[in-house]
Amino acid sequence: MSLDTRKRLRKRRDMAIRMKIVIGADHGGYHLKKTLSGFIRQSGYEVIDVGAFSNEPSDYPEYARLVAEKIQSKEGWRGILICGSGVGASVAANKFRDIRAAVCHDTYSARQGVEDDAMNILCLGARVIGEELAKEIAKAYLQAEFKDLERYRKRLSMIKEFERQWTRKD
Ligand code: RB5
Repeated sequence: MSLDTRKRLRKRRDMAIRMKIVIGADHGGYHLKKTLSGFIRQSGYEVIDVGAFSNEPSDYPEYARLVAEKIQSKEGWRGILICGSGVGASVAANKFRDIRAAVCHDTYSARQGVEDDAMNILCLGARVIGEELAKEIAKAYLQAEFKDLERYRKRLSMIKEFERQWTRKD
């Protein structure tokens, strides 16, 4: 296969992945997950919903793992995780290699988190923000692109080094 064909195939695969958003929530985020999934689908994306599928008590680390693994394996492009506050979900998701998760309850952070910090999982607190704001935040997050600048790449490689050190000590 020629280099050109390989490049073309990779580009096509990347474009297809870019339309896949992975979403997960514990019982605290179950209702907001339903609302946001509909909103994201209407915006033209495919939604991969990893649960929870009811509002029975469940554990947010489990959904953080499911979303993180789908981002790591590139089955999905970006993730959205919802719990009561967004905090537990972000703490758990950040334990996974190459995951950069953050709670953003305003559109500025959601956009800048991607542009400067390559955030790949947005965490939301369903008990903190309303549905309309959550939609605006999700929109800002999904429309944002990483600014591929030297200083941002340098900072990301510093974080990558933390991951390597952390693994070595284990
Ligand atoms: C569950 O009650 C709640 O603790 C959880 O959804 C989340 O807020 C943790 O950060």
